[in-house]
Amino acid sequence: MSSATACAQPNIALVKYWGKRDEKLILPATGSLSMTLDSFTTTTSVHVGEDADSFTLNGSPASLAATQRTTGFLELVRELAGDDRPAAVVSTNEAPTGAGLASSASGFAALALAASAAYGLDLDQPALSRLARRGSGSACRSIVPGFAVWHAGTDDASSYAEPVPAPDLRLVIVTIDGHQKAVSSRDAMRLTRDTSPFYDGWVSSTREVLDEMVIACRAGDVARIGELTELHALRMHAVIASSRPPVRYLAPASVSVLDTAEALRASGVQAWATADAGPNVCLLTTPGDADEVAAAVGGLGGVRVVAPGPGARLVSPELGAQPVP
Ligand code: DP6
Repeated sequence: MSSATACAQPNIALVKYWGKRDEKLILPATGSLSMTLDSFTTTTSVHVGEDADSFTLNGSPASLAATQRTTGFLELVRELAGDDRPAAVVSTNEAPTGAGLASSASGFAALALAASAAYGLDLDQPALSRLARRGSGSACRSIVPGFAVWHAGTDDASSYAEPVPAPDLRLVIVTIDGHQKAVSSRDAMRLTRDTSPFYDGWVSSTREVLDEMVIACRAGDVARIGELTELHALRMHAVIASSRPPVRYLAPASVSVLDTAEALRASGVQAWATADAGPNVCLLTTPGDADEVAAAVGGLGGVRVVAPGPGARLVSPELGAQPVP
């Protein structure tokens, strides 16, 4: 039996991915840009050579849907490796699954690395990013440390994430509701594409925002990065809300965090809001302002300050953490 264990963290997109142009290959309609976090680790072990595939999540057998998604992903790895033996996948997640803290990103990043290593594949960072993308689009960015751009690409080979230089930033995560969300991002993303009259505008404007964001990151322009981050998150929630039937992820407390960001900026503190497909809000700030921002939102939910973190890495008792080359 061969085994491997990998760790990965979620990422928060500053320029969001929302919409696919190829559902099977998970090719996005546009590129996106994110920060991989130093917190909420997923640790996943893959043991090849079992009688059947299985998936244990946080100590219990995973749901049928999650198990089928994991087995489907193992099929891709087995095809690449030319090895059809079943495997046991055992995973633990520090973030609440499905609560908008992108546990599917850390989950499929860790699974891509652990499974490819356990099946004997030696993939470099772009190849691993492409593979993780097939599990969940945003997972391709969690392969990469720090800030990552996911190139939309035109086919499987050209759609992967790579590092982008950026200034040192912090995210203050305000956890408003840790419960499973009503509509998954995958389903809501499809609904937006198929029913929103504003979808084409969303796609074309995202391309422009991404170009501007890459320039701002390279220039270390924190204020521009912040403005673009909040603008793009609000546009994403607007296009999602314009679906039929409408989907609304932000809760009243989420809007209070947005108000707090505005008030902080008015008093000279750097803070810009973003939110994924759920009510939790992240405030982008600098290392120097992070404590003040965290104190300002303390009454609105659980608060955690996170920094840019490592990409997916192998962990083994003998070798310790091994970054992807
Ligand atoms: C709002 O990567 O979870 O977090 O590719 O269908 O698995 P699938 O979707 P997923 O969507 C993430 C959406 C988002 C924005 C982002 O992370 O860019």
